[in-house]
This record gives sequence, structure tokens and C-alpha cells, in this order.
Amino acid sequence: MAVGIFDSGLGGLTVLNAVQTRLPDVSFVYLGDNAHAPYGVRDADDVYALTKSAVERLWDTGCDLVILACNTASAAALRRMQEAGLPKGKRVLGVFVPLIEALTERNWGDNSPPREVSVKNVALFATPATVASRAFQRELAFRAIGVDVEAQACGGVVDAIEEGDEILAEALVRSHVEALTRKMPKPDAAILGCTHYPLMESTFQAALGGDVKVFSQANLVADSLADYLTRHPDMIGQGDENLFLTTGDPDAVSNKATQFLRRKITFTST
Ligand code: DGL
Repeated sequence: MAVGIFDSGLGGLTVLNAVQTRLPDVSFVYLGDNAHAPYGVRDADDVYALTKSAVERLWDTGCDLVILACNTASAAALRRMQEAGLPKGKRVLGVFVPLIEALTERNWGDNSPPREVSVKNVALFATPATVASRAFQRELAFRAIGVDVEAQACGGVVDAIEEGDEILAEALVRSHVEALTRKMPKPDAAILGCTHYPLMESTFQAALGGDVKVFSQANLVADSLADYLTRHPDMIGQGDENLFLTTGDPDAVSNKATQFLRRKITFTST
């Protein structure tokens, strides 16, 4: 009974935390490709190859369903993997759609034509690769009209988080928010389009000001996964314990994960 959760590194733990709270009876196998993080500065082919190999590893552990808890991987690899054909009984889902549905006030799977929504000026913070992919803008255009999106590629933030340097991460977040608000002085909503960024959510909110509604993915993905598993209970997969796998140094990754989530997390080598 395990669902796979994949990220390039520690960021997907923000999603894992939310899905574990929402679905306490489901087991999860988390895989962080810390040896190759960050993905956000890699090209799309590279991200695709790394993501595909990590997803296959999770399938091998008995997970039938894998959540790409990584926007960069979702942008570069999800559609390509689905179009290439998945093995029988296996599924991969990304993290964009629940977020865009929340932003555009839609229920799950509402594929009606795009319409006007209450947000008009949206600030998008994401990795350089996600911003370059324009995947958010594409998903948004399927659902909403009249929304102006200003994107900020937040170079360096994921590296600082992976290195456990919170002071540097905070300084970078403040400077990226400043750069964004020079281009769009009054956003009414902000999207944290990288699963590492909820670890810095209070810094984003403080820099943006209290009037800006900040959307982050963890709880939205958890609700959407709960809904999916109610409709597809057969996708829960095999295995009945939570596992944490990393391609990096398990001790170093465990320490940082424990520090970020403020509970003991023990990774083993994949
Ligand atoms: N958490 C990944 C995301 O959501 C980070 C990507 C990276 O490794 O740069 O995009």
C-alpha cells in the first residue's frame, strides 16, 4: 500500500508532509534525487532522463502511482513520459493542475472553457527551467482568461535550501520578490511554483506583504491525491511502510530533512 513521491531533493517533503497528514493510512515511498539536485538549471532532456529513471525506481519498489512533487520535473517530463506510454497499471501525476485549479476556482477535472476569474495579476516564482517551460501559463490559459502572469526565475534558492543555508535562501527570496515587484508592482496572488519554496513561505509572504494571497502546493496536492485515490483505490500499490530513499549521502540528507520538517526522518541509499 504505497504511493511514490518524487522530487529532485528535499522540496517534495513539503508535499509528503501534507499527504501523510491527509492520508494517514496510506504508506509513501519518498525518493529524493539529491545527487543531481538542483534540476532547475538543467535542460529539459536531462530533467526528463533523471525523472524517468527515478520514477522507474519507485515503480520497482512496488508503487503503482508516482507523484512528481517537483514542478521542474512536471514541466519537463510528465507529458513526455505519458506520451511515450507507461507500463501497464502504472501512473504518474504532476503538481501543476491542483494549483491552477485552485487559482482559477475550479473543481477537480472541470474542463469547461476558460473564463474570467477573480485574480488578475499573478506573480509566479519558480526555477529557471520551470519558468522557461511556460507550463504554468499554458495550464492557466486552458482555464482562465484575462490573467496577467509575471514570472520570476528564482536562481540559487533551491541550492541554498539543499545546502541547509537558510540565511542565504531568505536573502535570495527577498531579492527575487523585489525583482518581481519591479515588473508587477501589485500582484493580487503569488504562486510558489517550486516544492522547495514552501520551506520559505513566511519569507515570501513577508516580502510580498499581507495583501497578496500566496498559493503553495502541498495541501492542494494532498486534497487532489485523496480525491484521486477515492476514485482509484487500486492505485495505492504494494508495500506497507514509509520509506525515504536518496541518491545522495543518506546521513547528510536525513539531517537536513529532519531540520526542515522538525521531525526525525531517516533516508537510505537508493
Ligand atoms: N522542488 C523542485 C521543483 O518543484 C525543485 C527543482 C530543482 O531541483 O531545481 O521545481
